[in-house]
Amino acid sequence: MPAGENLDYRLLLDAAAAAARATGDQGHVADYIPALATVDPDAFGMAVATVDGELYGVGDWEQPFSVQSVSKLFTLALALAYGGDTVWRGVGREPSGNPFNSLVQLESEHGIPRNPFINAGALVVTDRLQTMTGDAAGTVREFLRRESGNPLLDTDPVVAASEAEHGHRNAALAHFIASHGNLENPVETVLDHYYAHCAVSASCRDLVLAGSFLARYGVRTDGTRLMSRSEAKRVNAVLLTCGTYDAAGEFAFRVGLPGKSGVGGGVLAILPGRAAVCAWGPRLDQAGNSVAAVTALDALTTLSGCSIF
Ligand code: DON
Repeated sequence: MPAGENLDYRLLLDAAAAAARATGDQGHVADYIPALATVDPDAFGMAVATVDGELYGVGDWEQPFSVQSVSKLFTLALALAYGGDTVWRGVGREPSGNPFNSLVQLESEHGIPRNPFINAGALVVTDRLQTMTGDAAGTVREFLRRESGNPLLDTDPVVAASEAEHGHRNAALAHFIASHGNLENPVETVLDHYYAHCAVSASCRDLVLAGSFLARYGVRTDGTRLMSRSEAKRVNAVLLTCGTYDAAGEFAFRVGLPGKSGVGGGVLAILPGRAAVCAWGPRLDQAGNSVAAVTALDALTTLSGCSIF
């Protein structure tokens, strides 16, 4: 199927789901947040929302899961929409080459995290969104609800509390960033809002609808603009280079799309000008990315010949 032609998303989703299921029991469900370990490890879903408003899904595509770091895409987009380039004063946009929760670079780089998608960077972005709106997590939730048309979408308080209880690394990161004067709000407030947006439960269906503004170069589902075309390009660029952490090179190699993963097993990817695609499978590889979801996205772009390259 040559790139550029109309894609048969139903056929592609079926083939991608078959590839994902063939990964069997490879990978491990995240258990450092104990409440996440209760998920069915064999669940799999995938959805596509096109820029023209078509919606396709396969498997458990309507089942909510913990979005975790996928929420960081929305925190960044909303912080840029409200605050513009000021956001980039406190966070970089280079790949870190380190795990998502690493502490090592922060000291030598004076409390300025490498990029907005590692935990340190997402804490800074959450802090700025909190300053801009007074309710960072609520702003993310509201955006997700409106774009997905799902008023029931919400934070799972059990997951948020479970992460807070076991959140020594994130607390360490936040205190270290604060010690360099790079947080505007109290550490506890920033952590609460960070855990609350990570602990949102949403389905592949919800996430493709909410993420499709990036496929429309910054235009929301109701046709209004969230951000300029240039800003949407920048978010997509940072997703490509940093969205899957120290596996971003491998993700670009296999999938060839901007994408954001989460330890709940979801990966949201963007086919600019065409569609948003989300796949979900709870078993993760060493870098914290879903084995089944990355395999499914790899199959979709390989079979369709459609990527950004
Ligand atoms: O802070 C954490 O560790 C989690 N709330 C999010 C991490 C995550 O999803 C990394 N993604 N693959």
